[in-house]
Amino acid sequence: MIPPETTSKEQTDMSTAGGPSERSQAAPGASGSRAKVKKSGHGVRVTDLHAYYGSLHSIKGISIDFPPNEVTAIIGPSGSGKSTVVRCINRMHEEIPGARAEGSVTLDELDVYGEGVDVTAVRRLIGMVFQKPNPFPTMSIFDNVAAGLRLTGTKTNDLRHLVERSLQSVGLWDEVKDRLGEPGMGLSGGQQQRLCIARTVAIEPEVILMDEPCSALDPVATLKIEELIDELKERYTIVIVTHNMQQAARVADTTVFMLDGEVIEHDETNKMFTRPNDERTERYVTGKFG
Ligand SMILES: Nc1ncnc2c1ncn2[C@@H]1O[C@H](COP(=O)(O)OP(=O)(O)OP(=O)(O)O)[C@@H](O)[C@H]1O
Ligand SMILES: [Mg+2]
Repeated sequence: MIPPETTSKEQTDMSTAGGPSERSQAAPGASGSRAKVKKSGHGVRVTDLHAYYGSLHSIKGISIDFPPNEVTAIIGPSGSGKSTVVRCINRMHEEIPGARAEGSVTLDELDVYGEGVDVTAVRRLIGMVFQKPNPFPTMSIFDNVAAGLRLTGTKTNDLRHLVERSLQSVGLWDEVKDRLGEPGMGLSGGQQQRLCIARTVAIEPEVILMDEPCSALDPVATLKIEELIDELKERYTIVIVTHNMQQAARVADTTVFMLDGEVIEHDETNKMFTRPNDERTERYVTGKFG
């Protein structure tokens, strides 16, 4: 059993070189000194996961490995369970009244559903970006990024530096550096989504879950997010749900095809789109599904 407030950072004794985590602030729940070694990423393993909404059995015993520093895309028709799976990974699923999950999710050695594990710490380690950009509506650009850092007790002196680094890492710094005090809601949709990603990376998660992060964006903003995903995977393990086959083909190392709460196939993205093993995958990726 993993004791409360124990994190994978603590267990693997890892920190980041070059990323925003080069700071005095400890990871959630971590204590003591940690070696400054190059971050090599942390994998997520989902084993025999079942998820329910009341009596609806929506995820039917799936197992997926999300390798460290890789982008894994989850594709599949509407209602196949993609969002439910990603919400189970960071324990957001259980926030829905009547919803529950069974099975195992691990982040390296950390049993995400282990008895006594701090759910807040899990959600900091496994950050999430949603379909619709959701900046905190009353906050400035600066405060949107700083909000999570303040919660983790970052000193005011460090905040400015860390906010700048986070905005730099999503390619937004030059666009907003002269208007940091203005409302986050005043940015364009694509900028807002990058702001939300900056907010997520600011607290140095290990994994970033993205549920259709580009579906509200135009092609130019989408391209920027895709380029960003490619950079972020140097430091993070990324799971992206997408309805856009081209997007999966562009950004993902491997792709998972889900249908009716089950994983039909998980393989290298190129193979999934050119030589899938399952006829249902082929029908879906060629647009003949349904
Ligand atoms: N809050 C909820 N309450 C009850 N059932 C839900 C809830 N959210 C999802 N479901 C059901 O769980 C199943 C999987 O839904 P999920 O949202 O995970 O699908 P999805 O693959 O993300 O679909 P989409 O592509 O439309 O976003 C569906 O049958 C859906 O109706
Ligand atoms: Mg969904």
